[in-house]
Amino acid sequence: RGLRVSDKGFLNTAVISSSITYIDGDAGVLRYRGYPIEQLAQNSSFLEVAYLLIYGDLPTRKNLETFEHEVMHHTIVHSDAETLFRSFRYNAHPMSILSSAFSAIGSFYEEANPSLQGQNLYTKTDPKSLANMDKQIYRLIGKAITLAAMAYRVRQGRSFVTPPLGMSYTGSFLYQLDRAGEERYKPSPVLERALDVLFILHADHELNASSTTVLQTGSSLVDPYSAVAAGCASLYGPLHGGANEAVIRMLIAIGSPANVPAYIEAVKRREKVLSGFGHRIYKTSDPRSFIIRNIADEVFAVTGKDELLDTAMALHAVAMKDEYFISRKLAPNVDFWSGLIYRAMGFPMDFFPVLFAVPRVVGWLAHWRQMMHQQGGVKIWRPRQLYVGPGKRDYLPIYKRL
Ligand code: CMC
Repeated sequence: RGLRVSDKGFLNTAVISSSITYIDGDAGVLRYRGYPIEQLAQNSSFLEVAYLLIYGDLPTRKNLETFEHEVMHHTIVHSDAETLFRSFRYNAHPMSILSSAFSAIGSFYEEANPSLQGQNLYTKTDPKSLANMDKQIYRLIGKAITLAAMAYRVRQGRSFVTPPLGMSYTGSFLYQLDRAGEERYKPSPVLERALDVLFILHADHELNASSTTVLQTGSSLVDPYSAVAAGCASLYGPLHGGANEAVIRMLIAIGSPANVPAYIEAVKRREKVLSGFGHRIYKTSDPRSFIIRNIADEVFAVTGKDELLDTAMALHAVAMKDEYFISRKLAPNVDFWSGLIYRAMGFPMDFFPVLFAVPRVVGWLAHWRQMMHQQGGVKIWRPRQLYVGPGKRDYLPIYKRL
């Protein structure tokens, strides 16, 4: 009574106050904790940005060293997890594997689970509670690259790699993905830095579907591993983190620049979607897409140009001049170019959403930590519905039903 469905898809509902990420969708502005994304992409490292997002300020040199040390020393995954990975079929989607893996490793850490502890572990701000929360944060960020690399290797029937020490976060990730028995393997510095910047760009984007899922799940005071697993499941969808994979599938289906006009017409007839275009918040180009476009050139200089690039450029050029897209303010988003870079770096298409999920773990944890410590404590997220089903009916035995 008195309820109405007012905001399908939450176009205009703010569910929390946040000081993490600022977006001005009309001006194409994105800032983490006040710092423009362009400055962070130019000057920072992924782990420095992770610290900034989670703790609110850029770290001092000492704080960064401690944070890097903790995260990188938590990259090792317990060998029990290997059984889980081996139980997946060879063609399992890596996002299914990754979300299951986050959920499963949560069961290794009893001290992380409020239900098992019989007390609320994360809303308090005393040093012991904060230290416990920090530990789960280090573990989740550290293990994200290892779990992702395990999901990658298990499908190729390859053995798992013990995470190295003394490498950067993205360097360790590339090492774990690619090392084939060569102890002195070193990733290309250009590709390592390119991936680091891509990770910075994907680290947070305020209350997108997956971050909202993490908060909704976390509001029941479940352990953060379960909340991150839920975020992963939400990110998997083609309208969200799966869009970078969908872009490549679309470009392959289009085949060549000559077929672009016909595809655009099919989009306008609503028979197809232009993946990698459009955004709930941005009504102009996504600022991350300009940075990514430059990274693409740096990566292609090392790997060679991706054969789909010409089709992508033609699609971009036609769409940006077409009234259908102009009137709806549809422009390229972060996923339009990122898939081309990942492909050039040799990643299989279905691994692209994983490359989105790994850095987004940081954003999810920043939002989760902020909610746990918000003024007045956590309130479980329990929205209402408007019931429009039948009134009371009496049960009819099956033989009497028509
Ligand atoms: N191709 C064709 N038409 C589109 C597209 C598109 N990619 N995106 C939106 N439209 C049309 C839509 O049909 C609607 O037209 P009309 O008003 O005539 O009915 C209008 O533009 C407004 O779109 P909307 O669906 O109301 O917008 P939304 O905010 O609900 O959806 C979106 C945002 C990102 C889900 C959508 O633009 C989309 O499906 N894009 C393709 C998938 C994609 O690239 N997703 C990645 C988003 S960025 C990274 C991330 O957050 O994960």
